[in-house]
Amino acid sequence: TGFTTLDYGFVNTSATKSAITFIDGDQGILRYRGYPIEQLAKNSTYLEVAWLLLYGELPTADQLAEFDDKIRHHTLLHEDLKRFFSSLPHTAHPMSVLSSATAALSTYYEHQSDPANPEHVELNTIRLLAKLPVIAAYAHKKSIGQAFLYPDNSLSFVDNFLKLNFGVLSEPYEINPVMSRALERLLILHEDHEQNASTSTVRLVGSTGANQFSSISAGINALYGPLHGGANEAVLDMLARIQESGESVQRFVERVKNKEDGVKLMGFGHRVYKNYDPRAKLVKESADEILSELGVHDPLLDLAQELEQVALEDDYFKERRLYPNVDFYTGVIYKAMGFPTRMFTVLFAIGRLPGWLAHWTEMQGDPQTKIGRPQQLYVGAGKRDYPGAV
Ligand code: CMC
Repeated sequence: TGFTTLDYGFVNTSATKSAITFIDGDQGILRYRGYPIEQLAKNSTYLEVAWLLLYGELPTADQLAEFDDKIRHHTLLHEDLKRFFSSLPHTAHPMSVLSSATAALSTYYEHQSDPANPEHVELNTIRLLAKLPVIAAYAHKKSIGQAFLYPDNSLSFVDNFLKLNFGVLSEPYEINPVMSRALERLLILHEDHEQNASTSTVRLVGSTGANQFSSISAGINALYGPLHGGANEAVLDMLARIQESGESVQRFVERVKNKEDGVKLMGFGHRVYKNYDPRAKLVKESADEILSELGVHDPLLDLAQELEQVALEDDYFKERRLYPNVDFYTGVIYKAMGFPTRMFTVLFAIGRLPGWLAHWTEMQGDPQTKIGRPQQLYVGAGKRDYPGAV
């Protein structure tokens, strides 16, 4: 048309202004609402950061206590929704279960899901923060054939989640503070990342006037792909395949460089970070520490470290400015905690939920928001006539 810029993958296009997250990809800087990720990961909690992302400032102690209390009181799933899980095969991927059950949540709250009603929006923000971890844990329990536990509202957000995943009905659950702190830290690192594919999806769906449940469910589906959140699962699968096959790290890297069968070094490369991913640096620092604190020695961590070293010294990766991203080392930690590989991206989704909600809410409140509707350059056939039509 002469008016359209062709930009595959939106490499050069800003679709919105946003005041939530700042990234400088060349310098490896990530800040939520101005606060450096390093400081938040070390000192804050998942819920405090969620508040920060949603409302722009750190909460006071009273605000945080009230927020935490509200979330604890919305953890229960409707008993009918629990039966929804039994209609799915136990082999279902937990990400599919998570997105389907999140979309299904919408059916229980249709009378309170008006995006223009701030009370509905706040209530559904609380509901999603409270219920997504429960759905995630039930997806896990279903996949291993164990009974669902009721949420234990005497526990913190993270401990409740760990108990729902690893507790069993007949035995008392013992909190492991090392695991709790490690998971809290990983969740914080995932909480937002400005206009990534899943957040852009949440915004696009939300721009049509769809409610939070539908928008977040769409975001979960976007995150599922191996080029996005699904990479954490793909990294572990890749490491396990190298280990099982006995292939040398050098040979694997050669295959990546030659793009043999489209094989990629999963957990490497990023659209925005071209020197290093500050989240990956923090995860890598934690990985050794957490594994030793949990008393786990995993040869896959050694393999990952070897792979990273070989890649970082190789011209292919240097020229393309490919470095480990957040997904490279997280899987090794999740595995040490006892999560099956197929739960890794679900953990990412729980981490990212506050960011999705914050972007959805920011978009609703922005007077400049319009329905998201990209242009195209048409390259198809010119006008032609259907046989017999003329
Ligand atoms: N292994 C091998 N080659 C790679 C990789 C990789 N992981 N990543 C990029 N390249 C190559 C790519 O083939 C291209 O080479 P050439 O110029 O010869 O065609 C060049 O580097 C530039 O890559 P690109 O595909 O144009 O970069 P992009 O910004 O479109 O893609 C990415 C970014 C993250 C999708 C990509 O780096 C990738 O596929 N990485 C592996 C999957 C992954 O780890 N994803 C997690 C991303 S971080 C967290 C999250 O978002 O969930």
